[in-house]
Amino acid sequence: MTLVRVEDATFSYPDGTRALDGVTLEITRGEFVALIGQNGSGKTTLSKCLAGLLRPTRGRVVVDGIDTASKGVMKDLVRRIGYVFQNPDHQLFNARVYDEIGYGPKNLGVPEAERDAIIREVAAVTGLHPDLFGEHPFFLSKGLRQRVAIAATLAVRPQVIVVDEPTTGQDYRQSIDVMDFLVRLRVERGHTIVIVTHEMPIVAAYAERVVALRGGRILMDGAAREVFSRPDVLAETFVKPPQATRLAHAWARNGVRGDALTVDELVDAMRAALAARDGPPAGRLEAGAAHPPQEAGDV
Ligand SMILES: Nc1ncnc2c1ncn2[C@@H]1O[C@H](COP(=O)(O)OP(=O)(O)OP(=O)(O)O)[C@@H](O)[C@H]1O
Ligand SMILES: [Mg+2]
Repeated sequence: MTLVRVEDATFSYPDGTRALDGVTLEITRGEFVALIGQNGSGKTTLSKCLAGLLRPTRGRVVVDGIDTASKGVMKDLVRRIGYVFQNPDHQLFNARVYDEIGYGPKNLGVPEAERDAIIREVAAVTGLHPDLFGEHPFFLSKGLRQRVAIAATLAVRPQVIVVDEPTTGQDYRQSIDVMDFLVRLRVERGHTIVIVTHEMPIVAAYAERVVALRGGRILMDGAAREVFSRPDVLAETFVKPPQATRLAHAWARNGVRGDALTVDELVDAMRAALAARDGPPAGRLEAGAAHPPQEAGDV
């Protein structure tokens, strides 16, 4: 079922910069979508339009039947779609972490006891210890501020969660934690997740669907495997596929399946190719204990 529909949306900033140019997109309930593209390609503008923070200059965005340009719909929209800013400092303004997380529910009139339970729950799932509740967000690390921003968005329990650069300020382990957490939200609670990221290994490991933007237009929209198997088209976005995918491509002429997304998949594909050539080679290639994204630094 379509939850978010973007119809021929164009957006120009007041200075005349056209950041989106005729974007049409549908997001289905429960999808995990990654928006990719080089700096300035329109990812943030599109994600803000999805959340109703910006309204398209032309065309429209409809979230769960609500046109984001209609008057007085913000309260209904925040329950449906939440947006975590690329820079958490654009989002955080309360003097205590506790109040920051509870701000949305308070605004929606959630009673104090229930609010407290929600705050504690989302803090627990985002890895924010209650010892931090009294702290000023300003004095936390960027990674922790990002978690507070995510927790504050989750506290409203929106159906769709849009996170602009979820791994900002996080080290490798924390990036995996945040992504695993978003996956859990989707699997256990049925949230729809949209991330904006430059980290292709993260996209390969977590996103089912990839929307690649260039110059405010959609260049490709499809399954991650499909999009990454078109390095020629992807090159136009100046985004390189993950290293595992690039290696798989390079090996494709030796009979290796060319569409691996992760190192684990590449190893399996190489094993299969060797087995087809030589028969089962018992331990020729060892996968090792691999984590999903193998190349967190590779963009
Ligand atoms: N407030 C603004 N006023 C004018 N132009 C803007 C504004 N914000 C963004 N732009 C321009 O709109 C275009 C799209 O920007 P946007 O921030 O959506 O890109 P992005 O893909 O999110 O980039 P990045 O990867 O750097 O975050 C760019 O040309 C950018 O310079
Ligand atoms: Mg951006």
